[in-house]
Amino acid sequence: KYQMGMQVLCDDIDILIKEYVNKNNYNPVNHIEHRIKTLKSAYDKLQRKGYELTDTNLFEHVRDMIGYRIICNFLSEVEDVVKIIESSKQLRIISRKDYITHPKETGYLSYHLIVEVPLYLSTGIEYVKAEIQIRTLAMNFWAALDHKIQYKFSGEEIPSEVSDELYDISLKVTELDNRMVTLNEIMKKYKD
Ligand code: GTP
Ligand code: MG
Repeated sequence: KYQMGMQVLCDDIDILIKEYVNKNNYNPVNHIEHRIKTLKSAYDKLQRKGYELTDTNLFEHVRDMIGYRIICNFLSEVEDVVKIIESSKQLRIISRKDYITHPKETGYLSYHLIVEVPLYLSTGIEYVKAEIQIRTLAMNFWAALDHKIQYKFSGEEIPSEVSDELYDISLKVTELDNRMVTLNEIMKKYKD
């Protein structure tokens, strides 16, 4: 069902973006990444959260079995992409977290949506949850580096000289994103 959900999600978003590109003559997306979580890492997560390892708990409490990430060039495009997803007639947004306006204490920046994806099965409609992360290339760069570092310390506390530096770099990411938006605005003057 997660594979079916991924298929529906990919098609829905792909079509909505094509429609947007057709109408606006520009593409707010640099690229898309997606994955289905392995059972091992889903069970690890359930365990961390203190739930029994059952299919029902997996269905209820692991909301990112389907992980979908949309990467934009410019900060201003993140909002465009959120609107595109909101306009979907298929996806139901059940929660959202704006870690761009309110970054996490690690410095993590991203816009998250949890959606329900409908599966039109012969027996009726069923829904599976998916996590959609929307972020800029610069935010993605930071998150990838952070992920690598977290992996290196595998659950142990990250030394403050590392976490402080990461946090400081995330401030630079925000500064970079803002400057890129400004540059993009300036470039519009030279379009022709
Ligand atoms: P889980 O953390 O997934 O149990 O759920 P949650 O409700 O706490 O969601 P949260 O918004 O904190 O994080 C969801 C996902 O965002 C994670 O699985 C990561 O992919 C990403 N994420 C959150 N915080 C960080 C961070 O500090 N660094 C990086 N690299 N990714 C993060
Ligand atoms: Mg978390």
